[in-house]
Amino acid sequence: MALYFGSKALSKFDSLLQKANYSKLFILCDENTHEVCLPSFLQHFSNLPPLEILEIEAGEESKSLSVLEQLWHSLSELEADRHSLILNLGGGVVSDLGGFMAATFMRGIPFINFPTSLLAMVDASVGAKTGINFGPFKNRLGAFADAQLIGIVPEFLETLSNEELLSGWAEMLKHGLIASSQHFQEIKNLDKRHPLPTLAQIKASVTIKERIVKNDPREMGERKILNFGHTFGHALESYSHLQEAPLSHGHCVALGMMVALDVSVKHCGFASAEAKMIQHFLREAYAWPNFELSRDAIFKLVSGDKKNRGSTINMVLLKGVGEAVYNREIEFESLWGSYQNLVNGAD
Ligand SMILES: NC(=O)c1ccc[n+]([C@@H]2O[C@H](COP(=O)([O-])OP(=O)(O)OC[C@H]3O[C@@H](n4cnc5c(N)ncnc54)[C@H](O)[C@@H]3O)[C@@H](O)[C@H]2O)c1
Repeated sequence: MALYFGSKALSKFDSLLQKANYSKLFILCDENTHEVCLPSFLQHFSNLPPLEILEIEAGEESKSLSVLEQLWHSLSELEADRHSLILNLGGGVVSDLGGFMAATFMRGIPFINFPTSLLAMVDASVGAKTGINFGPFKNRLGAFADAQLIGIVPEFLETLSNEELLSGWAEMLKHGLIASSQHFQEIKNLDKRHPLPTLAQIKASVTIKERIVKNDPREMGERKILNFGHTFGHALESYSHLQEAPLSHGHCVALGMMVALDVSVKHCGFASAEAKMIQHFLREAYAWPNFELSRDAIFKLVSGDKKNRGSTINMVLLKGVGEAVYNREIEFESLWGSYQNLVNGAD
């Protein structure tokens, strides 16, 4: 995986451009990253190939078939070919959508990721999962496709809102919870109101993901542990998009991790006192939704998730901090019971 950090990332991209002689460079941004990230990014390069900017609306709704179709049309009209390069400059929506667009256009054209949100830096842009949402389900259509280069430039975080920092922080905490107690303790100490990590902390987090992905690129086994908190988290995220104020991906994952910790206590021997401490800490940063969840809707979303079969839920649980186990079959009622206990403050 060609993962580079800081100024090294920019110079690697520059030398890739000089070597590869691309016919055109397509930069995919959303409306925000177009405005606040693209101008400073372009200043680093003097010798770019012919450039086209593709802009999408910001937000999860853009990870859709209709937006993808518009982008395919744009690529055709602007004469993209297999010698073109796609550069995804944005958060996880841009890297998921742009990676899938690149993977499917003309059976695949090269792409690179310069993630601009914390969540995309530590998680979404790394690991070759690309895709879009379909119907009520997250990431239902997609492909594994490797970016030629992933460049992590933490300066982009200067314009990111606290809410989006919190969203990325949740995935960093997850990396600690599933794989490294030391990373968890360190990341936990960031300021809850403005969790801006250092470059070293970003590197440590993304290295955990990179190691897991290298061992199991197609998620046949160990990689599943990266889904900790996502069984409930993804269902909540999809459900929240039907509400007036949807929750961010990381916020839903953080709440999903609280639920998964409770299930881990019941089914995996996780120490109850430690789970309570972590849940308490998470609850201070991530509020429960201010809308009521429908059990039936969540059940449909959870059981329709591609990782589950029928009514049995396949979950990632923890034996302890840094010790994740996968493929644990759990009854939906147990998961739902954990959510209800937590949200009603019965823990
Ligand atoms: N492929 C994977 O492995 C993977 C892993 C985790 C999450 N994801 C996906 O990632 C998506 C969430 O990513 P996200 O949280 O980055 O969401 P996002 O892409 O919607 O970005 C969040 C918001 O931050 C803005 N933004 C991004 N960078 C900015 C910057 N530097 N300054 C100011 N504003 C900026 C965006 O415009 C957007 O409004 C979800 O769709 C999730 O499913 C994918």
